[in-house]
Formats: sequence, C-alpha cells, structure tokens
Amino acid sequence: MRNIGDYHSIPHLPIMIDEVILALNIKPDGIYVDGTLGKGGHSKSIIKNLSGKGLLIGIDRDEQSISFCNQYFKEEKTPHLFYHESYSNFHKILDKLKIKKVDGIFLDLGLSSVQLESADRGFSYKSNSDLDMRFDLKQKRKAFDILNNFDFKNLSDTIFNYSNERRSRPIARRIINLRPIKSVNDLVEAIRRSTPPKNRVKTLARVFQAIRIEVNNEINLLKEFLSSFTNKLNNGGRIAIISFHSIEDRLIKHNFKQMGLNGSLDIHTKKPIIPTRYEMSKNLRCKSAKLRIAEKRPYA
Ligand SMILES: C[S@@+](CC[C@H](N)C(=O)[O-])C[C@H]1O[C@@H](n2cnc3c(N)ncnc32)[C@H](O)[C@@H]1O
Repeated sequence: MRNIGDYHSIPHLPIMIDEVILALNIKPDGIYVDGTLGKGGHSKSIIKNLSGKGLLIGIDRDEQSISFCNQYFKEEKTPHLFYHESYSNFHKILDKLKIKKVDGIFLDLGLSSVQLESADRGFSYKSNSDLDMRFDLKQKRKAFDILNNFDFKNLSDTIFNYSNERRSRPIARRIINLRPIKSVNDLVEAIRRSTPPKNRVKTLARVFQAIRIEVNNEINLLKEFLSSFTNKLNNGGRIAIISFHSIEDRLIKHNFKQMGLNGSLDIHTKKPIIPTRYEMSKNLRCKSAKLRIAEKRPYA
C-alpha cells in the first residue's frame, strides 16, 4: 500500500456538518454507519454524540482512509470499527458483526479533497501522473484501461452520461486517435485538441469526473445500496446522503419517493438541503452538494 502521507498533509473540510448531525438525530447508545469515511470529518462529529454504549462503523473503499482514521480515532473511547469495503456491502459487515439493524446511515458520495489533490492518483487534470483514478487500489481496472480499450460508442456515452459534456463525441474520437493515452497529460492534450479554449477548464473537470465515475462503478453501487438499505434500518432510523452529481441526486430522490409511497420511509427533505452561502464561500468544493434525509417508518 502507498504511504498515507497525503491523508496527513491535505485537508478535507466535512460538508454541512451541523445539518448532517441534526439529520441523523443521534441516539447516544445507537449504532451508526458512515459508509464513506474519508478523513473521518463527519465521523468525528458522529462519535462525539455517542456514549460508550454506542457504536460507529466506518467504511471506505480507500484503504488509506482506513489507515488514517485508525490513527485519527485512536484516542476515542467510544467503540468504533473501520472497514475497507464498499458501502454497498455494508449489510455483509453487519452480518459478520451479528448486528441486525442500525439507527442511522450516512453517505457523503464522490471523492475527498485528499484523493483529488494527491499528485499520484490521477483524479485531477492539474497534476500529471499515471491514469489511475481508483478509490480502491486493489481494484484491477484503472482509468488507463477505459481510455485505451473502450470503443467509440462506450467512451462517448460514458463521457456524455456522467458529465453531460456535449462535446463527448469529438473528445472520444480524439482520445481514440491519440491512443495510447498513458498519462493525465495525454488525456488533457486529447481534450485540448477537441474543444475550444472557452470553458475548457470546465470541460476538463467534467471529463475527468465522468471517467472516475466509470472506473469506480459509482452509479451502480449507489443503486445497489438504495435498493436494500431500509432492511437494515431500525424503526425511526435515519438515512442522510450528500451527493454532488445530478444523476446521483435524481436516483436518491426517486428511490426515497418510491419508498415513501410503499410506506417504508418518511422523507424529511422535499427539496434537498444545500450549503449556506457562508459555507460555500469557505469551501468551493461544496457548491454542488445536496443533502437528502429520510426516516424509516415504524412498522414498515
Ligand atoms: C467525499 S469523501 C468523504 C469525506 C468524509 N465525509 C470526511 O468528512 O472526511 C468520499 C469518500 O467515499 C469513498 N467512497 C467512494 N465510493 C465508495 C464506496 N462505494 N464505498 C465506500 N467508500 C466509498 C471515497 O474513497 C472517499 O474517501
């Protein structure tokens, strides 16, 4: 495993922290799952609201997050367990721990500032490195494989579907013409050669985001989770999800609505909660964040 130096040196500001803690309505003796532990920012606040009889379960696909948080939470007396897993498999962790249901689940989707700004992970168009973009460094498929092996249709559809970039076709064509695409700079060059300079920075961010979502199978894992999480929530248990992408927000909204109609959830956010202007001025990354909250209905 690579060293976790970047986890120590690069900050990540947890988004809408007060809103999340309110949303979870934490019971001091309850069991809470943070499915996207990251640098443990939200989890630190969750654990502060738990008593010695409570339990925090933290999950992340990035092993570096788990190593970092094991150190960061070393002094915490409240029980906490951290797992290198996908949140979509959280039920398997609960089964292993012989826990039937929990009192709250929190997800903060996407990637952390640490991952984005780590010079060697390939998430950002700003620093040249290998085309990696994996959350889980044990996963085989990297951005390199997608960029060099997808056919034109798959590649342009991936870019369009996960970024709404209307120049997805010329970009995909140029990527294919310039293969092999070996580095972040090669991908930047393919985008540069297929787009006008105006707004190119936005295009770069969008294409990198789309490839990252594909590499990490982010939409399918969210769908898997949404289809089953209510089975593991206690009556009155809360679910709170922060998303950054319109596809994710639509999925969450639609699933909550369906579960509201079938009587298993009470939706607390007709419209998603967004960060205050003050928070946005302090943390540019939170601009597109949307928080949706729901509660498991008694007797559902
Ligand atoms: C926005 S960050 C979370 C930051 C965290 N809330 C904090 O305050 O430090 C998202 C995290 O989710 C992780 N992640 C993304 N997809 C995941 C998945 N399917 N299962 C578990 N973790 C995932 C990423 O590795 C990243 O660390």
